[in-house]
Formats: sequence, structure tokens, C-alpha cells
Amino acid sequence: MNVSDAAVRVRGLVKTHGRGQSRVRAVDEVDLEVPRGQTLAVMGPSGCGKSTLLHLLGGLERPTGGEVWVAGRRIDTLSERALARMRRRSVGFVFQAFHLVEELSAAENVELPALLAGRSRRQARRRANLLLERVGLAARARHLPSQLSGGQRQRVAVARALANDPLVVLADEPTGNLDTTASLDMLRIFEDLRAAGQTLIIVTHDERVAATADRLVSMRDGMFVDDTRLAGTGAGRLGGLIGLEG
Ligand SMILES: Nc1ncnc2c1ncn2[C@@H]1O[C@H](COP(=O)(O)OP(=O)(O)O)[C@@H](O)[C@H]1O
Ligand SMILES: [Mg+2]
Repeated sequence: MNVSDAAVRVRGLVKTHGRGQSRVRAVDEVDLEVPRGQTLAVMGPSGCGKSTLLHLLGGLERPTGGEVWVAGRRIDTLSERALARMRRRSVGFVFQAFHLVEELSAAENVELPALLAGRSRRQARRRANLLLERVGLAARARHLPSQLSGGQRQRVAVARALANDPLVVLADEPTGNLDTTASLDMLRIFEDLRAAGQTLIIVTHDERVAATADRLVSMRDGMFVDDTRLAGTGAGRLGGLIGLEG
């Protein structure tokens, strides 16, 4: 594959944390290419390096070794400033713990990335309203995060991740703090995103979430130990898994 065809590409990626006795190779010589429009799920036991991998892919952490390319551009060699700009433009993050600004309304949380990227208040507001509608939260736009359920907060976080129309959305255990109903809502949102051609990398413990992906990799001790291409459409698999078929 041509470098520029890949949304995200890493070669020989290594990240060590800590020093001396407590030194850990959190990511150990990983090669990965995620084409535009693909949904990748990453599974593996706690501590195997999933979050570290995601942070490296999105430029939140710098690798100890290897190369990271996003949107055809090498990012591990960028200055802090250029890296921050790249993140704002090309990457949307969704975290397990939502990470919303508690003092801002749902709509303001979603507007924030667009404002930081230099859009006008009007543009940012219009985009935020659209995205909140897309995740089924238009009626909650003026609510503060504390006035929303966990599932609703996570939907705000997804809308915020999409605010700058990022090339890739990176989600780290996005259903980890959600009950079953809210997880299913989140599942449908990821399914919609996949159908819309959004490049998506989801770290998850939830097999139903993983089943929405085009490809599933399993990690152990910082390495990929299994790599599976999932067949069929996500909707069909999902229907089967949650008993909607027939
Ligand atoms: N900032 C850090 N400092 C030291 N060790 C870390 C740090 N972040 C992660 N680690 C270690 O790196 C390994 C991988 O962690 P992580 O990427 O969070 O795994 P996962 O997300 O799969 O649970 C673990 O052994 C963890 O303790
Ligand atoms: Mg993690």
C-alpha cells in the first residue's frame, strides 16, 4: 500500500515506560497499517499496551523507536507545536472516562475543538448542533455533563471527537464505563460511523464492539498476537450478536 493511502501507519513502533528495574516495553516492535475508511478493533488484557499504542498513533505520546505516519505524514519527528496542530486537525479521541469540561454545556464541549482550530463561533455552533443530533442528543445540548447519564456523556464525547471532521477517530474503551443499554447505543453510533466511511480505531474489551470492526487485532505484552479480518457487514454481524436477527 502507498503510504498516503493509509490513514495511520506505523513501522517498528516501540515505547518503553519507566527506568531500570521498572522498565516496561509497553509497545514492542509493532507494524500496522490502517487504510482510510477501515474500522480496526484492538483487544487484549489489561496492561498489554493498548492505550499506549493509541496514544502513539494519535501523537499524544512519542515513541521510543520506530515511525508513525498519519494522513501520509510522518508525525514522530514533528515539533510539539506541529504535533498539537496535527492532533487538532486529523485526530478525534474518545476516552473511557469521557473527559468532558464540566463547566461547559454539551454543545460548548463539542464546539471547543472547532474553536481551537480557528473556526468562527457560528460555524462551530452549527457543527456542534449537527453532531449532537447525529448522536441523538439534540435535546440535551444546553445540559452540563453533570446533568447527563454516562451514556449521554459518552455520546457528547463522540460528537466532540468528530467536531473537526478528523481523518481518524481513536476510542479507548469507549463503553468501559457504560451499562448495557448505553453500550448498545454506542455500538450503533460506531456502526453508523463505519458505514459513513469514518476511519476508526477502537480499543475494547467488549466483543460486540469489536464485532463492528473490519479487522480485529489482539495484543499481548506490547505485541500483536492475532490479526483477524472480520467477514460480512457490521450490521449483519451485530444483528446476530445482539439477537436482532429473524
Ligand atoms: N506513563 C506510564 N509510566 C509508566 N508505565 C506506564 C505508563 N503508561 C503505561 N505504563 C505501563 O505500560 C504497560 C502498558 O500500559 P497500557 O498501554 O496502559 O495498557 P492497556 O491500555 O492495555 O491496559 C503497563 O505495564 C503499564 O503499567
Ligand atoms: Mg488502557
